[in-house]
Amino acid sequence: MDFGVPQSLIHDPVHAESHRVVCHCLNVTEHEIRETIAENDPQSIRGVSQACGAGAGCMSCHRHIRRMLNEHVVQRRMQMVGETHATEPACAGQPSCGS
Ligand code: FES
Repeated sequence: MDFGVPQSLIHDPVHAESHRVVCHCLNVTEHEIRETIAENDPQSIRGVSQACGAGAGCMSCHRHIRRMLNEHVVQRRMQMVGETHATEPACAGQPSCGS
């Protein structure tokens, strides 16, 4: 429903969260770090730092970057399992298969 309120005045917690500055030393947002991880697939915090600068200062943001790296790895593994499962003929029609 549209109440005529300008979008700029509506608080969007998801949008606000992704644009939250995670690395204050290098002024890098969560959104930028997640994009860097998705595009470059870095294997370490050092890789993230080399790609976007985040984490290259005082290191207090490293635990947040590590969490985002871990979430990315879990997402990739879940995608791989889903892709493997979808192409696996042995699971078709098996009662133990959830698909
Ligand atoms: S806050 Fe990220 S390096 Fe200092």
